[in-house]
Amino acid sequence: MSKDYFITTAIDYPNGLPHIGHAYEKILADVIARYRRLNGQRVYFLTGVDQHGQKMQQTAEAEGVNVATLAKRNTKKFLSLWDTLGVHYDGWAETTADDHKHCVQAILRDLHDKGQLYKKTTTLSYSVRQEQYLTDKDRTSEGNFGPEWGEVVKLEEENWWFKLSEHAAWLKGAVESDTFKILPAFRKSEVTNAIERAADTDLCISRPKARLHWGIEIPFDTDFVTYVWFDALINYISFAGYRKAGGSTLPDFDQLWPADAHVIGKDILVPAHSIYWPCMLHAMGFADDQMPTLLVHGWWNSKSQSGEEEKMSKSLGNVVDPAELAQKFGVDALRYYLVRDITTGKDSAFDLSRLIMLFNTELANDLGNLLNRSLTLTKRGALRVTDYDDGQTQALRESLAESVAAYQTAMEHDEVSVALGAINSHVVHCNGFLERNKPWNLAKDESQADRLAAALYHICESCTHLAILLGPVLPTAAEKILAQLRFTPESPVLLADLQWGLLQDGHETGKPKPVFPRIEIPQD
Ligand code: ME8
Ligand code: MG
Repeated sequence: MSKDYFITTAIDYPNGLPHIGHAYEKILADVIARYRRLNGQRVYFLTGVDQHGQKMQQTAEAEGVNVATLAKRNTKKFLSLWDTLGVHYDGWAETTADDHKHCVQAILRDLHDKGQLYKKTTTLSYSVRQEQYLTDKDRTSEGNFGPEWGEVVKLEEENWWFKLSEHAAWLKGAVESDTFKILPAFRKSEVTNAIERAADTDLCISRPKARLHWGIEIPFDTDFVTYVWFDALINYISFAGYRKAGGSTLPDFDQLWPADAHVIGKDILVPAHSIYWPCMLHAMGFADDQMPTLLVHGWWNSKSQSGEEEKMSKSLGNVVDPAELAQKFGVDALRYYLVRDITTGKDSAFDLSRLIMLFNTELANDLGNLLNRSLTLTKRGALRVTDYDDGQTQALRESLAESVAAYQTAMEHDEVSVALGAINSHVVHCNGFLERNKPWNLAKDESQADRLAAALYHICESCTHLAILLGPVLPTAAEKILAQLRFTPESPVLLADLQWGLLQDGHETGKPKPVFPRIEIPQD
């Protein structure tokens, strides 16, 4: 039996509301998961929320609510957003769940038994905002801690430490040899540089309950809870069934692990995902071929200072709440924009005018018009497969084949924007084909019947392929398009089945209904 494609995302802090960065990451992972299914793979997609830690406790204190209540209340906002945005996960990771707690404590006991944990007292500088201890290497050239750390306090306390440094030499080799893989490749050098630090620093993995009660209790020393990152990273294996309790309904770990993609943002690559996590796994006894692959995405920056934003109408405002964006512009426009206007791994500037422009141009105009014309011209009549072939029909089939190949290559490398560009290039080709062949004129000339039939067949067949390719990014729209084409096979068409001739001779298409109504910008 083939192993599943196991994809996970970072688990979000629910100490506030979900924002556009959270939405991007989950949509990116959802698109990859859906693409892998289209590619015939069995997929398990895990995502969730990171409910413990100092930030949660502080937010709860500031708001005067019970921290568990806060976690539950905000978690609901994330769940509801994923539902709205069509993010379909198979597993939901909530770090306050009993299954997770059971696993974290089992791991802590294992590591303790192996001599990987020890207790010591230290005086350290601690960044409250970043929830991490700072070292002299974090100081500026003037010897201070920069403003990015927020409030820095001195703490003397006894804690449990993990012998991270024992694994640094192994990690260096694992990163250099791609045993532990980091994608895109340009991110690797950041990690290589950071490993030097790990060689002389262990990781503090506990917090005294006196200062932080909101966490998983250290099972062999109950005055302490587990440091939030140590707890959170374990979600990738706990919810995949690692060390699960008897009777648990969690998946079968051997079927899932190692993860084919941990989808994370660049800010949590170093040190958490590229140093702590592989070293934790190595200490637990995971072999080299059991290391996960990291897929590191870039950052969505806001573009609020720019003049363009001010040109936007007041009623649109500077909305960046993903739920509100989806409500105002539609889920398709938001999903499309967030994976179209960024290169996977790189940063981008969030720009509402580009969201609208991309939707109106590539979807409403290019694809929407193509579909509408194809179905209108066909007039719900039967498509006819003929022997007619000329340079243009041949070029159209070649354009489709090129787009499919480019799409597949791009998606194999998680380059969703490139894949969408490949789809659009065939859409544009088809619209040009219609302009050149003018089937509306051919229809008036009996002697052109075969040429007309070939033209109609070629564009309807193209629309069918295009909708299937678009499916991972816009699943609902793709379904609508296929329904209008009346292409509704019993089992889903996979990428490997995308051969010319999906529509049979005599196939009757349906009625056109706009799938991508233009977004009109209200004037005020
Ligand atoms: O870091 N653009 O949670 P988080 C793109 N709980 N991605 C962004 C972004 C932006 N503007 N802002 C945040 C945490 N992200 C931890 C993770 S994993 C074991 C624990 C991404 O809510 C960010 O990079 O701060 C991260 O991958 C995810 O959203 C959650 O961020
Ligand atoms: Mg963060």
